[in-house]
Parts: sequence; structure tokens; C-alpha cells
Amino acid sequence: MIGVFDSGIGGLTVFKEFITELPRYDYMYLGDNARAPYGNKSQTTIYNYTRAAVDFLCKQGCELIILACNTASAKALPKIQQEWLPNHYPNRRVLGVVIPAVEATIEQIRQASIKDNKKRIGIIGTQATIDSQVYEDEFAKRLKNNINNQINNLSLQICGQKCGLLVPLIEEGWSKKPITKIVLKKYLRPLKQKKVQYLILGCTHYPVLLKEIEKIMGKNVKIISSAEATGKKLIDYLKRHAEIEVKIRKNRQRIFYTTDEPQHFQTLGKKLLGMSFGQVKKIELL
Ligand code: DGL
Repeated sequence: MIGVFDSGIGGLTVFKEFITELPRYDYMYLGDNARAPYGNKSQTTIYNYTRAAVDFLCKQGCELIILACNTASAKALPKIQQEWLPNHYPNRRVLGVVIPAVEATIEQIRQASIKDNKKRIGIIGTQATIDSQVYEDEFAKRLKNNINNQINNLSLQICGQKCGLLVPLIEEGWSKKPITKIVLKKYLRPLKQKKVQYLILGCTHYPVLLKEIEKIMGKNVKIISSAEATGKKLIDYLKRHAEIEVKIRKNRQRIFYTTDEPQHFQTLGKKLLGMSFGQVKKIELL
């Protein structure tokens, strides 16, 4: 089974990509709705919550777990991968959404006709994601080690922008309201002023605003959604890791868990993504 974890409902944007790209696998989705949002919490709290969720998904039999949440990928994933998982479930794998987005951006840069090697990349996300500088670090690692055969002498200017109000506005069902457009314009203005050529949607919820973001940024800015990028990378990952792939059941089963009221999960999922779910079960994470 493939486990998909998010602080709440937003990870369904990633889950949707998975079931579209790779429908035959069994999936288990867990949303920690009772403790969301994660985006304004401390590193310790985000780590403890995420570790408890990963532990739950491992106990349910997930061989591979994707942290669909950018905040959890930024603040908890490295410690889970390096310290916790090897001691508790050495044969399981936990991946995140940041590296797929970084690699998708480098791929886009490589494919574009290159007139100059200086590129400007904007990233929007929660306070915790932007403060972590995880995107800057992952780009820097790739440039330094020439991973992904990136372009020689590529120099990147990375501009992070915290967008704290977007998640609550989207969850309120106000994605199409004028207030959301005003807030979005204000957040994107500094990135427009810096003339970014690429914009990474570094938060589960932002694909819901894709059309509006494209309109504001203009057609010359390439938008990279970490949800879409992660869907594509999962295909790649499963091809490269046959030892994991063979263990995953392929009965198209989908199981949903939430730490809050199932009804709340169902209503939000429908409102945000037009998705309906068979059964959503409530669990408690400690
Ligand atoms: N899932 C979070 C993320 O992608 C957004 C919601 C939250 O702050 O918990 O960063």
C-alpha cells in the first residue's frame, strides 16, 4: 500500500495526481485535520506530529509513504529519513514533495532555450516551509554536485514568499472570491517585481488557485506545482525501485483516515477538489 500523509485536506491535490498517474495501486490517505495547520508551528511540533503519522501508516502496512505536505517535507522529512526510519522500519521508504518540485524546475530550465544562465525562481508556501530554506538548499545541492546534469554555470536567484492567508481562505471555500484575488496579488507582487521566470507552488493547497496565479503572473512565468511534479516522480521512483514496487498491492483500494470528524473531511474534500469518498475513518494520533 502507498501511504499519503498531509496535515489535512490539501494533500488530496497530490493524492489526485497519484490515482490519475498510477491508478492500479492501493492507497491509504491520512489527514491530521485535528492538528492542522502545520504551517505556523515549530520544527519540533511538526516533526513529532509527522513522525506519529508515519508510524501509524507503517503499522497499517504502507511500504512507501509520501509526505504530501510541503511543511512536513521541509521540517520533518530529513530527520525521519536519517534517524527515525532506519531504527524503526528499515525496509520502508518515506519521500516528500520538495525534491520532485526542485527537479521538475531544473528540468524546465534545461528544456528552455537558454539565452542566459541566470534564472530567477519564486517559491510560495507556508511560513514554516519558506523559513526552512529547504528549496534554496536543494537547488544549491544540485548546482554544486551537478546532479540532474543541470546546465553549466547556471546561477539561480531564489525568492521565497510566505502566504499565510491562502490556506484559510481556500479552506473557507473562498478561492474564487475577490478577497482571495486581492490577497494573492499582494503576495505575488514582490515576485513579479523581481521578474521571476519560474514559480513553485510549494504548498498542497495552491493548485486550487492555479488559474488565478497564472493570470496574475502572466504567460511568460512557468508555474511548477509540487503536487503534479510528485505524481510524475512517483512513476519514476517505482520504476527504479522494483524491490519496493513488487511489495505494493495493486487492487485499486483507497482508504481514508482523518484525525478529526470524517464529515468535516468529506465536506472539505468535496468543496476543494470535488472529490467524494466512500468511507472516511477517524483515528487518534499520539
Ligand atoms: N499542507 C500544508 C503544506 O503543504 C499546508 C497546510 C498547513 O499549514 O498545514 O505546507
